[in-house]
Amino acid sequence: MDTVKTIKEVREYIKQWRRQGLSVALVPTMGYLHDGHKSLVERASKENHRVIVSIFVNPTQFGPNEDLDTYPRDLEHDKKVCESAGASLIFNPEPSEMYFDDRCTNVEVEGLTNGLCGAKRPGHFSGVCTVVSKLFNIVTPDRAYFGEKDAQQLAVIKRMVRDLSFDIEIVGCPIVREKDGLAKSSRNIYLSKEERQEALSLNRSLRRAKKRLKDGERDTNIIKKAIEEEINKETLSKIDYIEIINSEDLKPVEKIEKTVLIAIAVFIGKTRLIDNFTFEMEEK
Ligand code: PAJ
Repeated sequence: MDTVKTIKEVREYIKQWRRQGLSVALVPTMGYLHDGHKSLVERASKENHRVIVSIFVNPTQFGPNEDLDTYPRDLEHDKKVCESAGASLIFNPEPSEMYFDDRCTNVEVEGLTNGLCGAKRPGHFSGVCTVVSKLFNIVTPDRAYFGEKDAQQLAVIKRMVRDLSFDIEIVGCPIVREKDGLAKSSRNIYLSKEERQEALSLNRSLRRAKKRLKDGERDTNIIKKAIEEEINKETLSKIDYIEIINSEDLKPVEKIEKTVLIAIAVFIGKTRLIDNFTFEMEEK
């Protein structure tokens, strides 16, 4: 498995593979790979002849007060994960390979990016959609794999692909968790021992919400309150948002009548973590 740093080299690989009639998948990542990322690469290599994993800590999706400079990196570890999961090639560009200093084009997905992380991280989805569009144009994959962990990102990318007529199938993959329920994230490394323990409140609060829903509760305010209470039991946690939204248009709902996404973001100390689940309803 090779690692390349330039767009030109990626295109040479793609050309060869296409000549042989092989299908190509893309798994976009920011590196520091864990079992969540690995599950995407494994699935992609089951469903395609060749898999490209991009590893690029994309500066344009980080806000001025976010963790771009401290975002964890470990390329040697990432290479091992990719190799063992069946990847064919790693694309690991420098920012200067991806962005011209005088660039003036961004990809904006409106509406779907107004709430949740879009509201809390201005400019974030513009950075995500621009870099993902570039990766799609560089790799021209048949399929691209994204995690349901970042549920809003997945919905936004699907809409962008539809709206801009990218000929790419977007495959959503389930959240991979630690044994104790914490969703795997590259940012979990920031947590102190105490914070790591507190972080369990995210999944615990969602499980509590799921139980209330299963028991028949349909009022979003009551469900939100149950989540809030569970998280506020902890001392180092600060809720960023708790949202119950329509899983397609991501608009808030008051009464749960259709399939909804319950999504939360919580600061544990300085670390912002997200988690979510989809509650499926029999649609009438
Ligand atoms: P990153 O946070 O590295 O995540 C890369 C992919 O792995 C995303 O599709 C994300 O949803 C998925 N992922 C992360 N944790 C997961 C988990 N616990 N279970 C399942 N999948 C998980 O998301 C990004 O990078 C960037 O925004 C990117 C799309 C690469 C654009 O820069």
